[in-house]
Amino acid sequence: MTERPAHPDATPDGGPREPDGAAPVGLAELERRAAARGDRPAYGHDALIACDRLVRVFATDGVEVQALQGLDLLVAEGELMALVGASGSGKSTLMNILAGLDVPTAGAARVDGRDLLTMGARDRLAYRRDTVGFVWQQTARNLLPYLTALQNVALPMRLAGRRRRAERPRAAEELLTMLALDHCRDRRPHEMSGGEQQRAAIAVALANAPKVLLADEPTGELDSATAEQVFAAFRTANAELGTTVVIVTHDQTVADEVRRTVAIRDGRTSSEVLRRTERDAATGAESLVSREYAMLDRAGRLQLPADHLTSLGMAHRVLLELESDHIGVWPDRTADDAARSRTDGEENTPGGASGA
Ligand SMILES: Nc1ncnc2c1ncn2[C@@H]1O[C@H](COP(=O)(O)OP(=O)(O)OP(=O)(O)O)[C@@H](O)[C@H]1O
Ligand SMILES: [Mg+2]
Repeated sequence: MTERPAHPDATPDGGPREPDGAAPVGLAELERRAAARGDRPAYGHDALIACDRLVRVFATDGVEVQALQGLDLLVAEGELMALVGASGSGKSTLMNILAGLDVPTAGAARVDGRDLLTMGARDRLAYRRDTVGFVWQQTARNLLPYLTALQNVALPMRLAGRRRRAERPRAAEELLTMLALDHCRDRRPHEMSGGEQQRAAIAVALANAPKVLLADEPTGELDSATAEQVFAAFRTANAELGTTVVIVTHDQTVADEVRRTVAIRDGRTSSEVLRRTERDAATGAESLVSREYAMLDRAGRLQLPADHLTSLGMAHRVLLELESDHIGVWPDRTADDAARSRTDGEENTPGGASGA
């Protein structure tokens, strides 16, 4: 059996010592620290949307699909952000959970203080009506075909029953005006273009002033110029009403126009691109600077970008080295080293050890 070296912070009796090597820490002090840790605010306590190790497993015909595999995501109130990821990575699964249409298998999901796992049927209905608005990819799914744009927007107001009847058309008209749709007021969906239909869908989703607007590929069926107009409508909702907006998109121009783009890979958030405007001190010229970050989950796990891994031939095991201001990640060379030492051993003395 190998003897473990003493931890540098250990006292002679094995108890922990203060980092500066002073007196050992008493039990009472340890208990106090543990209690203080317990008082720490919960993960994402100040976020509007907080997903913590979210899991969704689908079982069809005895085959299990893990659509979400411990996904962490925090979205602050007032954000306008995009979610991207390959087909099947779990984006729609996440959106359906956030919309209150589906229930996760495990983990935690909170939106505006509501627990999406434990919420009862009545609260779920109120949540879908008041807290979130939803825009789908299929234009036909967002609007009722036999109602005009104005009637479509007024309908959720009527169902919620919060505004007085006489006020509804006015409130609906204001939303249409805000999204530059006055000319569509009395048109039915088939009399509007695809882009106009999607903007009307945004107006419908905003009818009850939700805190969160969710959109799953809202520009997926549109050409890029029209997609741009629809995206502008989301930006207007965010800027004018303060609505928090989460958009799933394959459209790179949409992803490039938001401050934060979160990528989902295999049911987990894998990386984030943050963009900010920087002003050149000398010229005063403004430019958009974007940086890609990998996500570190609460257990300290990190997902390295697939192209980084393949270009360095990293798989299965990597070597980590802590430096003063960063952590180095190196490919595992033990197989190469072992092969080299075997060759050396054959050529030189038997049993030669590999060098560091
Ligand atoms: N109701 C369901 N029953 C069984 N499997 C499902 C169900 N919904 C989604 N899945 C599976 O879960 C995984 C994630 O699907 P999801 O629809 O969330 O992907 P996505 O990222 O939205 O993809 P896309 O970009 O193609 O829309 C996929 O493997 C999918 O087949
Ligand atoms: Mg999808």
